[in-house]
Amino acid sequence: MHYFTYRGNELYAEGVPLEALAREYGTPLYVYSKSTILRHIKAYKKAFCETGGILCFALKANSNGSVLKLLAEEGAGADIVSGGELFRALKAGISPSKIVYAGVGKTADEIAYALRKKILMFNVESGEELEMINSVAGELGAKAPVALRVNPDVDPRTHPYISTGMKKYKFGMPVEDALEFYGRAARMEHILVRGIHQHIGSQLTEVAPFRDALKKVLQLIKRLRATGVELTHLDIGGGLGIRYSKEENPPVPEELAGGLLPLIKAVPGLTVVVEPGRSIIGNAGVLLTKCLYRKKTGEKNFVIVDAGMNDLLRPSLYGAFHEILPARRNRRGSQVADVVGPICESGDFLAKDRRLAMVKNGEILCVMGAGAYGYSMSSNYNSRPRAAEVMVDGEKHFLIRKRETYKDLIRGEL
Ligand code: LLP
Repeated sequence: MHYFTYRGNELYAEGVPLEALAREYGTPLYVYSKSTILRHIKAYKKAFCETGGILCFALKANSNGSVLKLLAEEGAGADIVSGGELFRALKAGISPSKIVYAGVGKTADEIAYALRKKILMFNVESGEELEMINSVAGELGAKAPVALRVNPDVDPRTHPYISTGMKKYKFGMPVEDALEFYGRAARMEHILVRGIHQHIGSQLTEVAPFRDALKKVLQLIKRLRATGVELTHLDIGGGLGIRYSKEENPPVPEELAGGLLPLIKAVPGLTVVVEPGRSIIGNAGVLLTKCLYRKKTGEKNFVIVDAGMNDLLRPSLYGAFHEILPARRNRRGSQVADVVGPICESGDFLAKDRRLAMVKNGEILCVMGAGAYGYSMSSNYNSRPRAAEVMVDGEKHFLIRKRETYKDLIRGEL
């Protein structure tokens, strides 16, 4: 559910016409709906936090400070994967006691930074990383709280690039080796074994793979308890999908909780951590782009717009589908076209062979579901300044990130 809807022929974000925002702030422009974000945060809080769970928003989906402030005000924590994300989370006022830190390549400096800030736990991805954390904690005279990320070898049935919980991927430790790793961790002087972590992939549209993975992890927790290793935190990861196309019908947080919490309750004494990114912010954001030119080759129609793969990489990288709607509906009928950006690559497209409203130059198109992994994956490729970001709240709107300038492009160069 989101609050981008047509009123008459005009597409609105809450109470504001998107065309007006494009006029005021220029394009390409990311626009977020505050009510949509809040709605999703509340859905997660109701599903998981009322029973004592901790909601840790995955910053990689969107790390704009205003978005994070909203989450902090709602009491959410953070799932981070770098020192930079830790910096952003703290700056937004997110409590370190609700920050979990995953990723296969944490550096010694990043580990030290997180230890000094006293985060909830490191989600450790290898034996060598565990040793590094132990050694850095030793230097700081600290004890590092950890969860081991286990790889349950379950197929999440999603795109291979965003699938993580199978043996062929770099993430986590094989379930079979986990007992041994926990044994090693428990013997380390500067490690405090706190939890266990799983994250099997992203844009999952069914509950079943989550359940299959969870069953394996709960089994493991029981075996660990039998050997005297007591875990208090169970981090079930993120990964719940959103509806990019009409064929997709992903479960809502309540359904996810309904499928998982009864299994977890059977193993008492566990605080649940959940790490959603996309399902909080994905359909709370759109990318506005202006039609610059149209052209026909013998084979194809092209709609050339002012947003490219540097602004929204998902279609180019994953062949991802994003619905594209006109900011103002017209009666000109439709066409089948490729919507392409200005970048000098044939892989630079927002949509391929898409049936789409007829647009004229200067008109605004809205790329839907662009709130997650949109701005956060954008770049300056082709020396294009990155887009601006705006938050809509009812009838009001605020610039939450300025458009970059040419000067920004060379800042830091010597
Ligand atoms: N926790 C961990 C350990 C993760 O690796 C991820 C995402 C999440 C939580 C959040 O997953 P979400 O709830 O957003 O699905 N760039 C890709 C998605 C990459 C996801 C990476 N990990 C895309 O645009 O689809």
